[in-house]
Amino acid sequence: MSQARPTSPDTSSTWEVPPGAPPEGQGAVVLTGLGLRGLTSIAYGGDYNPEQWPPQVWEEDVELMRQAGVNLVSLGIFSWVLLEPSEGRFTFDWLDRIMDMLHKAGIFVDLGTPTAVPPAWFFRAYPQARPVDREGHVLGGGYRQTFCPSSPEYAAAATRITEQLARRYGDHPALALWHVHNEYGQALASCYCPVSAAAFRRWLRARYADDLAALNEAWGTTFWGQCYSDWEEIEPPRLTPHVVNPSQQLDFMRFSSDELLKCFQAERDILHALSPGVPVTTNFQIANCKGLDYWRWASEVDVVSNDHYLQAERADNYIELAMCADLTRGAAGGRPWLLMEHSTSAVNWQPRNIAKRPREMRRNSLAHLARGANGVMFFQWRASRFGAEKFHSAMVPHGGTETRIWREVTELGADLATLSAKEPELLNTQVLADIAMVWDWESWWALELPWRPSVDLNYRERVEAYYTRLWHHGLTVDFVQPTGDLTRYPLVVVPSLYLTTQEAAANLTSYVDNGGTLLVSYFSGIVDEHDTIYPGSHPGALREVLGLKVEEFLPLRAGEQITVEPDIQADVWAEHIVPTGAEVVLRYLDGPAAGGPAVTRHRFGRGQAWYVSTRPDSAGLDSILRRVYADAGLAPRELPPNVEVVRRTGNGVSYLIAINHSDQDVTVLARGVEPLTGIRRDGTLPIPAGEVRILREE
Ligand code: GAL
Repeated sequence: MSQARPTSPDTSSTWEVPPGAPPEGQGAVVLTGLGLRGLTSIAYGGDYNPEQWPPQVWEEDVELMRQAGVNLVSLGIFSWVLLEPSEGRFTFDWLDRIMDMLHKAGIFVDLGTPTAVPPAWFFRAYPQARPVDREGHVLGGGYRQTFCPSSPEYAAAATRITEQLARRYGDHPALALWHVHNEYGQALASCYCPVSAAAFRRWLRARYADDLAALNEAWGTTFWGQCYSDWEEIEPPRLTPHVVNPSQQLDFMRFSSDELLKCFQAERDILHALSPGVPVTTNFQIANCKGLDYWRWASEVDVVSNDHYLQAERADNYIELAMCADLTRGAAGGRPWLLMEHSTSAVNWQPRNIAKRPREMRRNSLAHLARGANGVMFFQWRASRFGAEKFHSAMVPHGGTETRIWREVTELGADLATLSAKEPELLNTQVLADIAMVWDWESWWALELPWRPSVDLNYRERVEAYYTRLWHHGLTVDFVQPTGDLTRYPLVVVPSLYLTTQEAAANLTSYVDNGGTLLVSYFSGIVDEHDTIYPGSHPGALREVLGLKVEEFLPLRAGEQITVEPDIQADVWAEHIVPTGAEVVLRYLDGPAAGGPAVTRHRFGRGQAWYVSTRPDSAGLDSILRRVYADAGLAPRELPPNVEVVRRTGNGVSYLIAINHSDQDVTVLARGVEPLTGIRRDGTLPIPAGEVRILREE
C-alpha cells in the first residue's frame, strides 16, 4: 500500500508540496490524452447552434472562434428537424457548409446525433412513441427528450438519422468526436407506457433467467400478497394509492437506466461501423442525474464527457464542482475526460441565476482541468435571442465582444493554447489522489425510496458532507465503485452505502484485512441488491468488519440536536450500538442513545474499520476525521482557507494547479516553472486572490 502522503501541517498559510509519486502502477500508464481524432491540444469551445442565426453571422462566428482560441465545437445536437424536415427527406447543405467553414478555420467538430429532439412530424406520425409518466399522463411536445426509450418507431427513426450523419460526415476532416444525443436521462429517465411495460418484463426475464419464482423471492412478493404467476401480470411501478414494492421500484430504475443505455449503444454501434476511428461520447451529468447508473455507462463510451453547472447560490459551490469533477474522473477510470458543458456566467434555470464574478469562470474551468479534464467546453457559443435559454450566458454574450465575459473567454483560450503548446505532456498526466471514497448509484436509488426510517436520510448530502471536509483538509479524492480496486489507498470513506452487495462487502472487508483504514457512515450495509435486509442485526453486510451490531435505529426529530463527547453537535440520526469487537471511541452524551457508542473503531486483520453512527456538524466531523487520518498515516494539508491544490503527474512530469477561491492573496510552498508566465518559483508560489497558478514542478 504505497501512497504519496501529504506532509504534516507546515504553517497556516503555506503548504510543502511533497515530491510527486504516482500511485502504484500509475506511473507506468501511457495515456494518449483524450484520443479525439486530429485534435491533440486541450479542447476549448462550446455548443454551437448556427441554425438559430442567419448565414452572415456564421462567418463572424468562425472569425470570433479563432480569436477566442476555440478548437472544438459541438454541432447539430438539437437539429433533427433541420436535417430531416419530413420523414426520410434529408437536407444537409447547411451543415455541409458549416462543417467546411469550420474545417477551413482549423476548428474541429464534436458532431451531435440529434436524437434528443425528435421532430414534430415524428410524433404526429407515431403518437405511440410519446412517453407516459407514472401518473399515466402522455407527455407533450415543445420540450426535448420527450420520447419513449423503448419505442421501436423511435429506434428506427434514430437509426436512420444516425446512419445518414455517419455516412455523410464519418470521414469529414473536421470531425473529431461523435456526441450521441444529449444528457440521456436529464429530462426523462423512465417511461410507463404499455411498450415500456413489455420491455420491462423482457428485461426482468433476462435478469431472473426466466425464473418467475426467483423474481417473486427477490421482490418479496409474499408481502401484501403480490405473488406473480405469469410474467404478463408484472407492471412498471405506476401510480398506486400508496407505496409500491421497493424491490420492484429498484429494478425499474435499473431497467430505465439500461433502456436508455440501449438507445446509446445502438447509435454508437452505427457510428463505430460507419465512421471507424472516430471516438463516440455522450455527455453525462454526473452526480446530478440520479436516473442513470454511470458506472455501467462509463465503460460504453470511448471518451467520458461531463456537463457541470455550479449551484450558483452556494458560497462554496466550487467544492461541489470539485466533487463532480473527481467523480467524472472516477467514471473515466482515472483517465483524462472532457468537460463538455459549463457556463461562462449565469444559467437560466435556477431560482436565482447568479452571475459569475470576475475570474470565477477561469477558476471553474481550471479546476476541472486540475481534476483530470483535458478539455473545457461551454454551453453555448453564442447566446440565443429566443427560446427557453435566452437568459443563459454564453461565450459570446448578447452584448458581443465589448464585454467582460468575452475578454475572459479569449484570455482563457489563449492560456489553454499556451499550455497545450508548451506543456503537451500535461495531457498525458493523471490526477494524484490521496484517498478514495465509495460512490454507488444503485445504493443512492435504494436509500431514497419511500418509507425509510427517516426522511432526512439523503445519500448525496452524506457524500458531500464528507467530501467537503476532505476538500478543506486539502486531500484529493478518487471516487470508486464499491467493488473497485481499493488497495492503493491509505483511507477509504464509505458514506451511507445502504445497499451493499455481498461482493462489495467482501471487497471492503478484505481491504481492511490487508491493512487499509475504512470509515463507514451510518445506514450502510443494510440491504442486498434486492433491497432485502441481511439476516440478523444491522448492518448485516458490514457487521464483521465493523465489529458491532446496531440493535436499533434511533432517528431524531426534525431540528433535534444531540451531543457526542467531548462536545460534538449532531442531528438527524443516532443508533443503539452493541460492540462485538470494536472499541468505543466516542459516546453519545444525550439523546436516545445517551451513554452508548457513537463512533467506534475496530482493528480487523492488519487494518481498522471506523464507524460514525450519527450526523456530526462540520467541526465534529473535522475532529473525527483527524483521528481517522492518524490511523491511515495521513495528515491534513494546512492550506490557506478556500485554496485548493491538485497535482497531475505521469511519465516523469508533475504539474501543480493551485486555485485561490478566497479574497486574500496567499502563498504556498512549491518549486518549478509557471508555463503561462515563464516565471521560476524557487520555494514559494504566490497566488493572488481569486487567481489560479499552474506550475511544472521540479
Ligand atoms: C444542459 C444541456 C444544454 C443546455 C444547458 C443549459 O443540461 O445539455 O443543452 O440546456 O443545460 O444550462
